[in-house]
Amino acid sequence: MSRADLDVTSAPACAAAVAGYDVVVNAAAWTKVDDAESHEADAFGVNAVGAANVARACVRHGARLVQVSTDYVFAGDASTPYAEDAPLAPRSAYGRTKAAGEWAVRASCPQSWVVRTAWLYGAHGPNFVKTMARLAGQHETLTVVDDQRGQPTWTHDLSESIRDLVTADAPFGIYHGTSAGETTWHGFTREIFRQLGLDPDRVRPTTTDTFPRPAPRPAYSVLGHDAWGTAGLSPLPDWRVAIRTSVAAVVGQPV
Ligand SMILES: NC(=O)c1ccc[n+]([C@@H]2O[C@H](COP(=O)([O-])OP(=O)(O)OC[C@H]3O[C@@H](n4cnc5c(N)ncnc54)[C@H](OP(=O)(O)O)[C@@H]3O)[C@@H](O)[C@H]2O)c1
Repeated sequence: MSRADLDVTSAPACAAAVAGYDVVVNAAAWTKVDDAESHEADAFGVNAVGAANVARACVRHGARLVQVSTDYVFAGDASTPYAEDAPLAPRSAYGRTKAAGEWAVRASCPQSWVVRTAWLYGAHGPNFVKTMARLAGQHETLTVVDDQRGQPTWTHDLSESIRDLVTADAPFGIYHGTSAGETTWHGFTREIFRQLGLDPDRVRPTTTDTFPRPAPRPAYSVLGHDAWGTAGLSPLPDWRVAIRTSVAAVVGQPV
């Protein structure tokens, strides 16, 4: 449903929207990470209260819930992958509101899966891969941060994994819906260039402090994937496989 169809900040509207469904995937969110620093109450209204409204509606109608969450619930200062049960320590308003959404869902809706994802790109909407492909046509060299580590994740892989969770009736709880492997934005951009037949040496490394932003970015956002195996399911493929498979279809789509 689009936002025009359902405003998740309205509890009655959520109750009405969930009626008749047995599975709900809540991907609605306030995702403007920097704006959230100065509009935390608004972000909380969608990411926490909205998630709680959807969760209560699911309980009322006996629906199972997939709550899409984020790596930003962690501090981002680890050096080994965050396990599903690692302590939450968000450093940004966006991360705090998403963490509150997780708690609201888990507290009120026992039949729920929280799927944390990160670094998403896909055929629809604007994203990093489309931006880098466009900039490659406009500039001889690109400068990209090389001190934030994470897991670029294709929306297609994430949606298949969410479908797997639901169809397998996997144990309820927390799952990390990010690609296997890890890289930096610089490493990811080099691979995008390579897959587009461009010279990856046109991509130069830089550091996060050259692009000051209102919200801090996690330096280390690598998530562990043990829960998939415990549930008898396959984790998402490696990020290199995903970008190789998807790049033509992604950059071929309008923003
Ligand atoms: N993109 C990433 O790399 C990434 C990383 C980690 C986690 N996530 C999570 O993935 C999910 C999807 O995010 P996305 O990247 O697809 O972001 P997005 O494009 O901003 O999608 C969020 C959607 O939620 C809608 N929305 C906002 N407020 C709403 C409300 N009050 N009621 C109903 N819908 C509302 C937005 O509508 P409008 O466009 O009209 O505002 C938008 O369609 C979110 O839970 C996000 O936290 C994304």
